Amino acid sequence: MRPFLSELTQRLEETERLGLLRILREPAGIDFASNDYLGLSRHPRVRERLIEGARVGNVSAPASRLLRGHEAAHREVEERLARFKGTEAALLFPSGYQANLAIATALIGPEDRAISDALNHASLIDGLRLAGCEKAIYGHLDVRALENLLAHTPSRGRNFLFSESYFSVDGDVAPLNLLADAADRHGAVLVVDDAHATGIFGKTRGSGLCELFGIERRAVATLSTCGKALGLWGAFVAGPRVVIDTIINKARPFIFSTAVSPLLAAGLHGALDVVEGEPELRERPHALARRLRAILENRGLQVPPGEGPIVPVILGDNARALRVAAQVQHRGFDVRAVRPPTVPPGTARLRLSIHADHTEEQIDAVADAVANAVEAS
Ligand SMILES: Cc1ncc(COP(=O)(O)O)c(C=O)c1O
Repeated sequence: MRPFLSELTQRLEETERLGLLRILREPAGIDFASNDYLGLSRHPRVRERLIEGARVGNVSAPASRLLRGHEAAHREVEERLARFKGTEAALLFPSGYQANLAIATALIGPEDRAISDALNHASLIDGLRLAGCEKAIYGHLDVRALENLLAHTPSRGRNFLFSESYFSVDGDVAPLNLLADAADRHGAVLVVDDAHATGIFGKTRGSGLCELFGIERRAVATLSTCGKALGLWGAFVAGPRVVIDTIINKARPFIFSTAVSPLLAAGLHGALDVVEGEPELRERPHALARRLRAILENRGLQVPPGEGPIVPVILGDNARALRVAAQVQHRGFDVRAVRPPTVPPGTARLRLSIHADHTEEQIDAVADAVANAVEAS
C-alpha cells in the first residue's frame, strides 16, 4: 500500500503546483459563495415546516422508494412540485447529480445521440457517459451549431438536446424557446437542467426559466435542485407522467438508492410557500446583481454578459484567481475562486452569488473589495 500512498501524494503535489489543489474551507465572512439566492436556508417558514415535519413524521425513510421508502409526504409534495413546474408529474431525488444520471440512463440508449452545450454541468456529462450514447457538443449557446447537429439523425435511435437553462458558472441564459423550436423541427427530445433558475426566474410561480419561456410542456424532462434557491437539499425531475414512470422503472440511480428523507418534503412546502407567495423577494437578487455588475464594469473588470444572481469576474490564471479570492476573503467576504475543470482552462474566475438578504451597502463594499484586489493582482 505504501508505494501507492506516495504516488497519491506526488499527484496531489502536482495538482497544487498547477494551482488546482482543492481543500475544504468552512464558511467565513458574508456569504457571496453559496447558491442560497433567496436566503431560504435560514428562513423561519422553512425552519418551522422542518421542525413540524420532524415532530409529526419520520425523519428518514430508510429503504428504496420502490420498497418501504415511499411515504405520503413524498407523494403529496411531488404533486405540489408538478403543479409548481407546470407539468404532469415530479419525482424527488437525494441530489441533482443523481437525478441527472437517472434522466439520462432511463431515457437514452446506446443507439441514441445526445447533443449537449459545451458548458453543461458535470452531472449531465456523466449521465450521458453512463447512458453510453453517441455525444455531439456544440459551442456554448450556439443555436445555429446545435441546429446543424440536429439535422443529422442517428440511423436507429433519436436525437436528444441537453441544456442548462441558467448556466451555473457563466450566469447567462439559454434561449429555451429557440431550443424547443429546433428540437420540434427535427423531431428531437429536449431535456432542460433548470437547477439554478428554480425559485428565482418565472413571472407567476417563480418555478424557473422553463416557466419564463413557456416551454414547461415542451421539455420531456426538467431537473430542478432544492439545494440552491429553495434553501434545502436534494432535487426533483418534472415532466409528463410517462417519463416519470419510466424513470421509476428504469433508472438505477433511483431504484438502487435510499429514498430522500420525508423531511425534505416538509421543508419544501415552506420554501414553495415563500417562493410562490413573495414575488418581490424573488426580484431582489436580480436587482442587487444588476447593481453589482454595473459597479464592476465601471471599474473595468471582465464580467461576461449575463443576468440574474450569478456574477462571474474572469481572471484567467488559476494562481491569480486564488490570490484575488484570498484578498477579498481577508476583507470579510466569502467569495471563492472557480478553476478548471469546473471552468475551461485559462478562464479561472471569481463567482459571486447574490442573495435576497444582501444589503445595497454589502454589494457596494464587496464590489470595492473585488475591484481593489483585481487591480492589485
Ligand atoms: C446545473 C447543475 N445541475 C445539477 C447540479 C447537481 O445538483 P446537486 O448539487 O443537487 O447534486 C448542479 C450543482 O450542484 C448544477 O449546478
